[in-house]
Amino acid sequence: MNANPDIAMLVYLGETGGQDEYEMIDAIRDGRITKPLVVWVTGDCAALFPGEAQFGHAGASALNELETTPAKLKALRESPVIVPESFDDLGQTIETTFMKLKSKGQVRNIVEPKVPHVPIDFDEALRSKMIRNKPSIISTISDDRGDELTYNNIPISQVIEEGYGPAGVISSLWFKRKLPAYALEFIEMVLVLVADHGPAVSGAHNAIVAARAGKDLVSSLASGLLTIGPRFGGAIDDAALTFSRAVRTNTTPEQLIEQHKDAGQPIPGIGHRLKSVDNPDKRVSILKDFVFRHFPSTSTLEYALEVENRTTKKKGTLILNVDGAIGAAFADLLYHSGCFTEQEADRYLELGALNGLFVVGRTMGIIGHYLDQKRLEQPLYRHATHDIAYL
Ligand code: ACO
Ligand code: LMR
Repeated sequence: MNANPDIAMLVYLGETGGQDEYEMIDAIRDGRITKPLVVWVTGDCAALFPGEAQFGHAGASALNELETTPAKLKALRESPVIVPESFDDLGQTIETTFMKLKSKGQVRNIVEPKVPHVPIDFDEALRSKMIRNKPSIISTISDDRGDELTYNNIPISQVIEEGYGPAGVISSLWFKRKLPAYALEFIEMVLVLVADHGPAVSGAHNAIVAARAGKDLVSSLASGLLTIGPRFGGAIDDAALTFSRAVRTNTTPEQLIEQHKDAGQPIPGIGHRLKSVDNPDKRVSILKDFVFRHFPSTSTLEYALEVENRTTKKKGTLILNVDGAIGAAFADLLYHSGCFTEQEADRYLELGALNGLFVVGRTMGIIGHYLDQKRLEQPLYRHATHDIAYL
């Protein structure tokens, strides 16, 4: 730099520790540095600290008296080096030195390069409220930013300590509130009762076929879950909507049956392939028994049973099925437990929250079937041709 004709003066910012500044003084004295040199050494506040002070990420510190900032500044001031009064004067000292050189014609005409525009850092701008961000995602059910994960604002440790369990978590994450104990017990009971219904049903069958085709757990599970729909496991919301709406509109069971017949549509929650009046579904009996004992109002479930009373007169299999029982009971919970406003209850049914109960519960059984097939090392499934009518 001393030899470079484009450089008129030197500026150096030192720190506590090391001996570079003394070498600079020697270089000026023996003629290796001939250009004006402005130097400041940071760290003169070290004496204010009780112990040995270290600075910056590199932990600069003085190993001996000579390496302290005051000693270095003193030596620099006693040499030809230009030393400002304080760090605050550094800029001014650089300018004064430069202008002196310029007035003496010792600085060539410099064309300053265009300073590139450096945009303000996004995080910094956001922090200092210079800009506001329109979020792409709004989320209200959980937060992992703090020290502790929260579910609906409840720290996860509290969720564990207070024994929320799967039903409590569903209550927090789906409905954003803690439902009363009887409702949580009901949800847990639903999860247990719908967990599996043997290998012949659509969900388990699909998962078994996928597992035997060599698919992994997630794929086999997905293949099973994808069968859940209006005929199988996914009639809970429609049943809740149909029965609760009929109650609210004073539609008689006969009218409801007639309306569905005219529209050529099955009543959601009614009918089963296997279960019938003569072969009742124990799951439905357990649910009914619990709901009648614990729910404050059971008008929807009672209505659904009146419908069943009439449909089973026509055909023994047209019972209130497990989807129908869950849907009707959950409608009673939504509309009559006092935990939801009517609008909230309507909204949850529109959103289709209740079929999620079957999805969560049946996931346990489908995974069971996947593991069972793998454990039994079952080969690729191929449907028997004698069981297919080739027309
Ligand atoms: N409402 C009115 N009539 C019905 C209903 C119903 N929900 N279900 C069947 N029927 C009638 C049919 O119209 C048919 O009448 P028909 O003999 O005069 O033609 C007769 O009952 C037999 O119908 P199928 O379709 O052969 O009955 P199937 O046993 O195959 O159906 C099923 C079972 C799919 C569950 C049917 O009852 C249905 O669609 N129910 C509504 C959807 C539902 O609730 N699904 C959930 C079942 S539970 C679960 O999956 C966990
Ligand atoms: C189930 O729980 O999977 C069922 O009720 C459907 C069925 O056909 O058994």
